[in-house]
Amino acid sequence: MTSKLCGAGIIGIGSFAPKTVLTNADIEKIVDTSDEWIVTRTGIRERHIIGEERLAVSDLGIEAANRAMASAGITPEDIDLVVCATITGDMPFPATACLIQDKIGAKNAAAFDLSAGCSGWAYALATGSQFVQTGMYKHVLVVGVDALSKFVDWTDRATCVLFGDAAGAAVLAPVEPGTGVLSTYLGADGGGAESLKIEAGGSRCGTSEETLKNGLHFIHMEGREVYKFAVRIMAEASIKVMEQCGITHDDVDLFVPHQANTRIIYAAAERLEIPTEKVFVNAQNYGNTSAASIPLALDEAYQAGRIKEGDVIVVVGFGAGLTWGSGVIKWTMPSIG
Ligand code: ACO
Repeated sequence: MTSKLCGAGIIGIGSFAPKTVLTNADIEKIVDTSDEWIVTRTGIRERHIIGEERLAVSDLGIEAANRAMASAGITPEDIDLVVCATITGDMPFPATACLIQDKIGAKNAAAFDLSAGCSGWAYALATGSQFVQTGMYKHVLVVGVDALSKFVDWTDRATCVLFGDAAGAAVLAPVEPGTGVLSTYLGADGGGAESLKIEAGGSRCGTSEETLKNGLHFIHMEGREVYKFAVRIMAEASIKVMEQCGITHDDVDLFVPHQANTRIIYAAAERLEIPTEKVFVNAQNYGNTSAASIPLALDEAYQAGRIKEGDVIVVVGFGAGLTWGSGVIKWTMPSIG
């Protein structure tokens, strides 16, 4: 959708990753893999995981939310809505957004979770910005957080090397029309649901001795299928969202894609004709952090001075569902450095 109402933009951003770092060398001791295989196929060198810290995703989300509010210069009472994109909530219910809302003291805020896999934060950006654009809310906190290290089978080398845990958050608020979130684009193909899923623990297949024995509470992924889908959809969703607001690849200052795999990222950038120096990549340090990936990358890029006020940023994600989502943001926060 393209904004025709008042502007909505990011006025504060923050992120958080747990301190335990698992390198490829560490993983070599757990499963039959090698640093060379992981780096060549994925670009990932290390990832942060909750490990022994006994944290849950709400704890990561709270840290990122506090940093985003500090960066925006607002108080918790100023927040009208908390949207939390996650597929690894603390519990099936209540919503992790409610746990975050309570712990940060956002007592005036409504709160709900949103499930769109690794596209979650793109979905949350589209959802949250519309509450601001319509004038319903002034400050919307959009959190993306996941801890997939808790859901991978640490004996399955095809998946355990890919994921890391983290949170990212942004505060959305009214900005000048023609700036902020210029357009968003979302899509889904439920026909691809089987290629990326956790089968057990829901209403179709509750947890039982048998599901535990068969490992159905772990991530199941058809990597090749997801790979092909990802390269195609990252490019298509980026083109669509740029067309919606009348820009081309030449207008893009920084491309900030979901950080699943650097091969997927560079293949998509090539299709989009976006040069490597305009692509932000931090997958090497975090792995695939699912819904946290895009806001974590945006925050790092901003803190590193890679995003200046007025820059045009394209974000795009893909994930379980299958889902995809993209956005064009004309950056409204003051330049750093
Ligand atoms: N170390 C060593 N060998 C491995 C490993 C490993 N960690 N994992 C798999 N292999 C082996 C396989 O067993 C296979 O061996 P074989 O040929 O003897 O059978 C060989 O490597 C090739 O396996 P593929 O799965 O075909 O490898 P591929 O080149 O496709 O790379 C990868 C695998 C990295 C998973 C890739 O398919 C990919 O990135 N897919 C997309 C994943 C993704 O982006 N997921 C997003 C999740 S989003 C969300 O919502 C959670």
